[in-house]
Amino acid sequence: MIIEVKGLRKRFGKFEALKDVTFSLPRGSTAGFLGPNGSGKTTTIKVLVGLLRRDAGEVRVLGMDPWEQEVEVRSSLGVLHEVPIYPIKVTVKTLLKYLAKLRGYGMEEVERVAKLTGITGYLDKRVEALSRGYLQRLGLAQALLGDPEVLLLDEPTANLDPLARLEILKLIKLLKRELGVTILISSHILPELKEVCDYAIFIGGGVTLDWGPLDELAKRYGVISSYEVRARRSRELARHLISLDYVRGVELAREGVIVKVDGRMREELINELEKLRQAYGITGLNHHGSELGDMYERVLKAKV
Ligand SMILES: Nc1ncnc2c1ncn2[C@@H]1O[C@H](COP(=O)(O)OP(=O)(O)OP(=O)(O)O)[C@@H](O)[C@H]1O
Ligand SMILES: [Mg+2]
Repeated sequence: MIIEVKGLRKRFGKFEALKDVTFSLPRGSTAGFLGPNGSGKTTTIKVLVGLLRRDAGEVRVLGMDPWEQEVEVRSSLGVLHEVPIYPIKVTVKTLLKYLAKLRGYGMEEVERVAKLTGITGYLDKRVEALSRGYLQRLGLAQALLGDPEVLLLDEPTANLDPLARLEILKLIKLLKRELGVTILISSHILPELKEVCDYAIFIGGGVTLDWGPLDELAKRYGVISSYEVRARRSRELARHLISLDYVRGVELAREGVIVKVDGRMREELINELEKLRQAYGITGLNHHGSELGDMYERVLKAKV
């Protein structure tokens, strides 16, 4: 587990913002951190990076305590804060160069992250001249400096226009696929999270309500999940699958079919595919996505 949190509590004066935050995040996962406004997401992230001291509980990031070993934890984490604070009079390049240097990197690294986040053309602009969307990209660029193993992104697509949003999601997918980065993303935009996440952590009122791999959660809460079945005879397979009463939909994909079922029917589907393996040349099965919106409602309803 790359992040482990157990019984985390945090109060601000008399107000207890975190009452019992408990979850773990396996290496290489992309997790959605989901919960209503004020539920404790940002506070949890601040504890994870060692910016806030917890009152109780255990927190381990890459096996380290972020409060005791702040410097070590920070150097292996990339963080995009909800409300980043940057010096505004300097240029983007100066700022990134400075932040890169703190991590032991030079201009090449600045150019790499600028390219990844699409701000190469903005390097000579002053930070105060950036639009909110470009500030957000700058935030992502600094988080990526040094190619960290873990990224904590607090609402990474807030303020972005639809195209920029797609680009950032593409970037997140790339980081996950090519570099195996572990990513925690808080966001309120559930449809877009569905595209990138394979794991979810639900929080409400400072308490984590449930967490785990999306397909397990889909099973637990009976929400629709889609699976990608790779098969040589995909048309014939699609025709067969659509005739099953528990199958909610079938689409042809590039190398097979996407099949939608209630998460509770996962085992049935797997057994059925096993029987069909020879006949349709089935070579693999992947969880493709779950209806996060439905899941969100059900988790909150079940636990609050
Ligand atoms: N420095 C602080 N002093 C007092 N209360 C705080 C402080 N920081 C956060 N809180 C309170 O703690 C609770 C959790 O806040 P937090 O920012 O973690 O929520 P969030 O889940 O990130 O919400 P959002 O989705 O709106 O970003 C809120 O009620 C908030 O008002
Ligand atoms: Mg927040």
